Amino acid sequence: MSQWKVYVTRPVPQPAIDLLAERCEVEVNPEDRVLSKEELIEKIRGRDGVFCLLTDKIDAEVMDAAPGVKVFANMAVGFDNIDIPAATARGILVTNTPGVLTEATAEFAWALLFAVARRVVEADKFMRAGKYRAWGPMLMLGQEIHGKTLGVIGGGRIGTAFARRAKGFDLKVLYTDVRPNPQFEAETGGRFVDTDTLLRESDFVSIHVPLTPSTRHLIGERELKLMKKSAILINTSRGPVVDEAALVKALREGEIWGAGLDVFEREPEMVPGLAELDNVVVCPHIASATWETRTAMATMAARNLLAALEGQLPPQCVNPEAYKAGR
Ligand code: GLV
Repeated sequence: MSQWKVYVTRPVPQPAIDLLAERCEVEVNPEDRVLSKEELIEKIRGRDGVFCLLTDKIDAEVMDAAPGVKVFANMAVGFDNIDIPAATARGILVTNTPGVLTEATAEFAWALLFAVARRVVEADKFMRAGKYRAWGPMLMLGQEIHGKTLGVIGGGRIGTAFARRAKGFDLKVLYTDVRPNPQFEAETGGRFVDTDTLLRESDFVSIHVPLTPSTRHLIGERELKLMKKSAILINTSRGPVVDEAALVKALREGEIWGAGLDVFEREPEMVPGLAELDNVVVCPHIASATWETRTAMATMAARNLLAALEGQLPPQCVNPEAYKAGR
């Protein structure tokens, strides 16, 4: 018999809904769009748990408007959309979905790197516009990947999976993080360096850090100037890690050669000027968007939510200090 009332803020893979429905009364937002704050509050009032997404801003006001909610299960590894101290102070559990999206996200960072380096999107547009007349010795020359230096900012799970794939292209790997990660080094042969050295020496820089106060605008005008003029920047982490206005300037003025972006500072918007540049490939935050990964993320979030409602510490809880035995 259904006991708990759960709200799912947007349609998600069905296996997750089925899992929830075995034990809960589930309502899913039928519309494939982000709810406004007012709509979100109205919908989650009177629920015990909320299955939410990185596009749902869960702040203290939302929490206080729905005091029955014991858990926000975020279907994302990042949880910068949720005010964690506010949740903890209220004894509300927050969960995320680490691990299951690691390989898909690493693959996509490579997809972006190849697309930018070999001008794949620009070439596709060129073909469709009927501009291809004949093979040209100087047509669409790009950057070779093989044998170059790869800079990985953030040597955690995704950064490691990304760098592990560099072996096949004989890349030298540099990485930076708050501290060295022996596992990163064992799996990738990468060398720990400070951020400035990484920016100066890398041909390709890929960002794999969470968004926190210390990573906001980690890459700004100064850092972009340190990079090689032939460098490519890839961001599949969170938009605000890069100062997007500074990036547009750097791309326009040839401070760096290109960029591949899956995330934006004010998503879903792009800073003016970005969309007009040919040396950037832009994607709508789809690094984890494979059938396998999104299903795994959704079922992981559902399991976390159920565990919290059953009074257990959910397996992927980001604020375990909010957990009180026997809740
Ligand atoms: C995607 O960006 C995630 O955090 O899972």
